[in-house]
This record gives sequence, structure tokens and C-alpha cells, in this order.
Amino acid sequence: MTTTDFTPGPIDRAERVYVAGHRGLVGSAVWRKLESEGFEDIVGRTSSELDLKNRAAVFEFFAEQKPKHVVLAAAKVGGIMANNTYPHDFLSENLQIQVNVMDAAVEHGVERLVFLGSSCIYPKLAEQPIHEDALLTGHLEPTNDAYAIAKIAGILQVQAVRRQFGRPWISAMPTNLYGPGDNFSPTGSHVLPALIRRYDEAVQSGAERVENWGTGSPRREFLHVDDMAAAVFHLMEHYDGPEQVNVGTGSDVTIKEIAETIAKIVGFEGETVWDTTKPDGTPQKLLDVSKLAGEGWTSQIGLEEGLRSTIDWYREHADTIRQ
Ligand SMILES: NC(=O)c1ccc[n+]([C@@H]2O[C@H](COP(=O)([O-])OP(=O)(O)OC[C@H]3O[C@@H](n4cnc5c(N)ncnc54)[C@H](OP(=O)(O)O)[C@@H]3O)[C@@H](O)[C@H]2O)c1
Repeated sequence: MTTTDFTPGPIDRAERVYVAGHRGLVGSAVWRKLESEGFEDIVGRTSSELDLKNRAAVFEFFAEQKPKHVVLAAAKVGGIMANNTYPHDFLSENLQIQVNVMDAAVEHGVERLVFLGSSCIYPKLAEQPIHEDALLTGHLEPTNDAYAIAKIAGILQVQAVRRQFGRPWISAMPTNLYGPGDNFSPTGSHVLPALIRRYDEAVQSGAERVENWGTGSPRREFLHVDDMAAAVFHLMEHYDGPEQVNVGTGSDVTIKEIAETIAKIVGFEGETVWDTTKPDGTPQKLLDVSKLAGEGWTSQIGLEEGLRSTIDWYREHADTIRQ
């Protein structure tokens, strides 16, 4: 079966939506978006309440809660260092989480499911900006290939469910995200929150030097997480297709430029040193967002505006955020 019975348009606000990973950067933004849209029955479980690697517990949860729709934003996520050091954990845990959730969602009749992946699914040397068609056309970036393969398997599972059961499930692939609720831990975080923390700590301690990994020349695209949540919700209501949809802004900056902007906002006036013995990762990662634009959505929050509010959030929550 290749067609679904999807009718684009508003989802009934009384229907139950399960946001898997609702305390994370992505899940919490999706939760806020659903609330602001008037959804009255949103459910979530922390990993200590429901470990999604525990297949029996996941099936029990779906049998009890019977969500009508699912946003799958639970995953083991990390930066270059964590991905490079623990490839087995990134592969195995992500496969377990997504297979358990999708299998239970198939069994319990979930109507719409959005699977969240990431732009690292595309080949390291994919033509820029990266179009959805670049999937599986070349070698992956080796530092996060295990994570990427798990995410690619997730896209294939969504496509298989569509073909076999005709459910209007979809996949969305956001670019690098940032915003309130991000992971600012020194070892587990992505580049942008890591830079915010490093520069802010330098200001607080009066340090004269900040050292960053790599050359600073790789180009990256950053999307505010509230924009991402708006895009994902838009797709849930309007998109029905087997192909994953890129979610981004359509423009990129160098890591050096982003570091300079953060340094300016936090008020760091010292020197920045680039440790060129450390890996840079993919040279450029810019998503082609024409498919998303064709579905009627473009990003709203500018980078400097988004950085300022994220830095304000970080400073307000510095004592309580994830370590
Ligand atoms: N951050 C980005 O820049 C970015 C970019 C593109 C795509 N994405 C995608 O978005 C998704 C979520 O990323 P994120 O940045 O929101 O990550 P995150 O902030 O680390 O949140 C991940 C969430 O997953 C949950 N989780 C992890 N392992 C679990 C388990 N075994 N059982 C139950 N829950 C578990 C965590 O729950 P607890 O908090 O309860 O432990 C957490 O809330 C991922 O698929 C990622 O690929 C993220």
C-alpha cells in the first residue's frame, strides 16, 4: 500500500498527543507549541518514568495511554566528542528507542507520527545546500556515522509503515538547533551551547583566553527550537509523504562568526584561540529547505535575536540546567 488516508488540515485539539522526549530541547519546544495551539491532552514521560529501551514497558504505556498521535523526539543525542567516543551506545540506544516506540505505535493504531532525525544523515560531502534526495548517496561523516545510521533506519521504518499499513507517518530532519532547554554540559553539548557556556564562564571568571576546537572555518546552519517546533507542527497538519523533510533556515555562518557573535553578546573582550589539532567535522552543512517552503513554512527567528534570548535563558538557569 503506498497511499494513506491523510486529509491535510487542523488536528482535533482534544486528541491525545504523546511527545516522546518532552523534557529535551526539541520535545519541550514541541510541547510548548502544542499547548499554544490549544491541545488539551498532551502526555509525556521522563526516561526514569519510562525507559524507551524497555520494550515491554513501552508497549504497556501505549496500551494504557492510547495516544492518537506521536512526536518522536526522544533520542540519545550528543556533540562530536560524545558521538566519537560512544558510537555503540549512540547506535544501539537510538535503534532501541525508535523501534520500540514505532512498533508500539503500529500495534496501538497511532494515526500520525513524526520521527525527528538530524542533518547528519546526509553524506559528508553532499552537494550544498543538501537536498532530501542526497540521502544514501555517499559516505557519512565518520565521527557520527553510528548515530546517523540509526536515524536513517528510523526514516526507513516510517516509510515501511506507510507502505505496509497506509498510515500518514512522516519524518522531519532539523538542522542544528538551539534555544531554551538546550544541553549546556561541557562534554555532551553541541557546538552552539558549548560556545555560549565557554564564553559566559570566561566573562564570569575574568579569563583572557578562550580555546575552541578546530579551525572555526566549518559552516553551519542554526535554527531556533521554537521555529523548529512550529515547522514540525505545520508538517503534522499539512504534509503527507514518504520522503523526510529538511527543517532549517536556508542560510549558514562559520563557527568563527558564531563564536564572535556570542563573545560580543556576553561581553567577552579577550582572545579566542583555535585548537587546530582537534577535528572540524563536516566542512559545511546547509540544508536545502525548498521542500519545506513548498509546504508553506519558512523560519521567523533571526540568529542574533535567537542567540540573545538563549543567552538570557542560559544566564537565568545557569544554576539548574543539565550539567
Ligand atoms: N539538538 C539539535 O540540534 C538537534 C538537531 C537536529 C535534530 N535533533 C533531533 O531531535 C531529537 C531530540 O533531540 P534534543 O536535542 O531534544 O535532545 P535532548 O535535549 O538530549 O533530549 C532528548 C530527550 O530524549 C529522552 N530520552 C533519551 N533517552 C531516553 C530513554 N532511554 N527513554 C526515554 N527517554 C529518553 C530524554 O529524556 P529525559 O530528559 O527524561 O532523560 C530527553 O528528554 C533527536 O532525534 C535529535 O536527532 C536535534
